[in-house]
Amino acid sequence: MSANNSGNSHGICRLAVIGNPIKHSLSPLLHGYLLRELDVKGDYQRREVTESGLPSLLEEFRSANYTGFNVTIPFKQTIKQHLDEIDISARDIGAVNTVKFKDGKATGYNTDAYGFVQSLLSRGVNLTGAGVVVLGAGGAARAALHGVISKSVRHIVLINRTHEKALELAENVRDATGFRSIEVHQWHEQEILHKIKGNDILVNTTSIGMWPDSHLSPVSTDFDGSNLVVVDLVYNPLDTQLLQLARKCGARTVDGLDMFIYQGVKALEIWLEQPVAFEHSELRKHLVSNLEDYAKN
Ligand code: ATR
Repeated sequence: MSANNSGNSHGICRLAVIGNPIKHSLSPLLHGYLLRELDVKGDYQRREVTESGLPSLLEEFRSANYTGFNVTIPFKQTIKQHLDEIDISARDIGAVNTVKFKDGKATGYNTDAYGFVQSLLSRGVNLTGAGVVVLGAGGAARAALHGVISKSVRHIVLINRTHEKALELAENVRDATGFRSIEVHQWHEQEILHKIKGNDILVNTTSIGMWPDSHLSPVSTDFDGSNLVVVDLVYNPLDTQLLQLARKCGARTVDGLDMFIYQGVKALEIWLEQPVAFEHSELRKHLVSNLEDYAKN
């Protein structure tokens, strides 16, 4: 693969990810690999920042001719007030994970919902008309909801430990999209098991099962998975307890690494203003071989 566009007029594609904490972000590994493979001269740094430091960091990026940056926890919503424009991809979702500088303007985009949908479509999972059970009500759940609604799912069940947060997210998504078929339930394993019976896809967007609590799972009882796809957005470890159980119960499974890959590739396409062709299996291999060292340090 090759590309000759750095996304700015200075020939160097200067990029970063901002957040707090930021030291566990895998994004430098992903983008470092893609920039190398595409033969684009550039770099991708991690920058830890506090909320009050956002304006001066943006100014620093602007004056150093950055092409853009990614935004992660906890600034995906608060970054919006510091930007000049919000792209349609981020408007309804209300969260920005990618910013591009162009012609003196900073524009916010969202590639998380795209990444989530693409991770399913690329594995042949059909979303049109599907019933989807989503566990969690944070930023990842929000992206997943917007993503599946854009692909015309039939029905969504939202289940979160803090019930009010699920109610609020459901209301918010209904208002933003006009999609009304969202039901909200209390967090109980029995409730989850009951709901997956009549639906097609279960998505875990919570951090349950993430290292160092890798022995945990939102569901630990066997279920009939013969017509179910189980998606876990946790990718450290890659093969979570939930995915292991799901496979044992006959379900198809999708891990969280592909969402991460596709949201990142889309961000790079926005920065470079051109399609990015990449070897999916090679990229996955590269990330997996570095995953443990990266995430545990
Ligand atoms: P993200 O942006 O990755 O979604 P987040 O906004 O912090 O991160 O959301 C984390 C989600 O995981 C929340 O839905 C959280 O539930 P609460 O709203 O009750 O906090 C969920 N979560 C985290 N740990 C959990 C646990 N041990 N049991 C159930 N839900 C959990």
